[in-house]
Amino acid sequence: MKITYHGHSALSFLLKDGTRLIIDPFLSQNPLADISEKDVQADYVLVTHGHDDHVGDTVEIAKNNQAMVISIVEICSFVASQGVEKTHGLNIGGGFDFPFGRVTLTHAQHSSGYEKDGQMIYMGEPAGLLLQVEGKTIYHAGDTADCSDLALLGEKVPIDVAFLPIGDNFTMGPDDAVSAAKRLKAKTVIPIHYNTFEVIKQDPNAFVEKLPGIGKVMEIGETIEV
Ligand code: NI
Ligand code: MN
Repeated sequence: MKITYHGHSALSFLLKDGTRLIIDPFLSQNPLADISEKDVQADYVLVTHGHDDHVGDTVEIAKNNQAMVISIVEICSFVASQGVEKTHGLNIGGGFDFPFGRVTLTHAQHSSGYEKDGQMIYMGEPAGLLLQVEGKTIYHAGDTADCSDLALLGEKVPIDVAFLPIGDNFTMGPDDAVSAAKRLKAKTVIPIHYNTFEVIKQDPNAFVEKLPGIGKVMEIGETIEV
């Protein structure tokens, strides 16, 4: 599969069978994003939690592509109320075998609410995503803090690639992400959720230097083959 980084926590996947996934498509409001939400082609949109820098353009992309939204049940209800036709709700610890592979929602230590018209809407618990696709396991941590549950994930299934936030302030910072990476025992660790805003400015190269042979920086717009 090919995985492309679009800045912040947004990643898209092109699978060998042509299936396209996008995770946390925060594009129109992110000046650093390499693509416009209008150009996204997706069969599935996966959302880790209800904050706007993750829900982003989910509704528009799902409507433009007749894509299915996969997320926690409350976010699925919300996007359905905004006109998205296909959703599949999960909850923490639960997984489901989709035609392209298995998606499991994992615990994330964070918060989750969506502000709309001056109201804070409850969006369920925040989550991480464990994808088992084409024989590989990919973990997107969402906005989690470092927490001991991450060790469990690595014990249950060997993780090929882990995307971890390093921005600090809203999520774990670089030092905690190094510690989390070691407990996850992922073969490759790629930093996300940094430099989008002033308060999450970080040096991703300094982070990966602390994970020799494991850490890898993806530039915005870069694609890797997994
Ligand atoms: Ni968040
Ligand atoms: Mn965030």
